[in-house]
Amino acid sequence: MTKELALSTSPPFTNSYQDSHPQRVIEMFPVKIGSYTFPYKDKTRLKQICFIITDKYKNNRKYSHQNPDSGYLTHYFDPILGNNSSLLDYPGFETFNSWIKRCSIDYIRNTVGCDCDDVIITQCWINDCSKGGSQSLHNHKNSLISGTYFVNFIPEMHAPLTFSKPYITGKPYLELDGENIFANIEPSEGTLLLWESHIKHGYHSNNNDKRISISFNVMPETLPCIYGFKLIKK
Ligand SMILES: [Fe+2]
Repeated sequence: MTKELALSTSPPFTNSYQDSHPQRVIEMFPVKIGSYTFPYKDKTRLKQICFIITDKYKNNRKYSHQNPDSGYLTHYFDPILGNNSSLLDYPGFETFNSWIKRCSIDYIRNTVGCDCDDVIITQCWINDCSKGGSQSLHNHKNSLISGTYFVNFIPEMHAPLTFSKPYITGKPYLELDGENIFANIEPSEGTLLLWESHIKHGYHSNNNDKRISISFNVMPETLPCIYGFKLIKK
């Protein structure tokens, strides 16, 4: 019998033996999502500015872009537009910009557990999702930390953000059949969620218009060690 045939005729793994049940399962190194609340009165002002931007640029393809996976989802100042316009340079984002930087430094230092003196927000954009819209599971490459701030969010009407359990993959890449593990976080308006950029996230069944959020990517300004370097944003 070839090795290949032996593998394919192995008994199903649903077989269970009493002497091979674990006495306990020790869960280590959980996925850590940081949750912060925008503490300023500027929250209402920020929301007003985001509504102005989504109204003003809705049909302007220089500043807005419809997600190809969902006609119900529009991104504003999306990095894919490649026009070097940063949402954070828009008047009214000054307080928000410095706050998300402080939150990101806190998350890197106190949740991820790494040294970090300063960060660069490498990209930042607005998402506006209508009723019936969704965002397929994805992650953000070339980034260390990613975040989403919920500008306009009605719990149980707007879709919560879903995270999937990260799997360590490499080469060669082997994958067994089985159920993926998902977890939802239902934020409040004014909540900022931060996570490590490799973690996949998305949402489905959005049941109301104007699910507006701001997403961004973060890199530490200085990458340490002998091969380290300092990033400068152009
Ligand atoms: Fe994302």
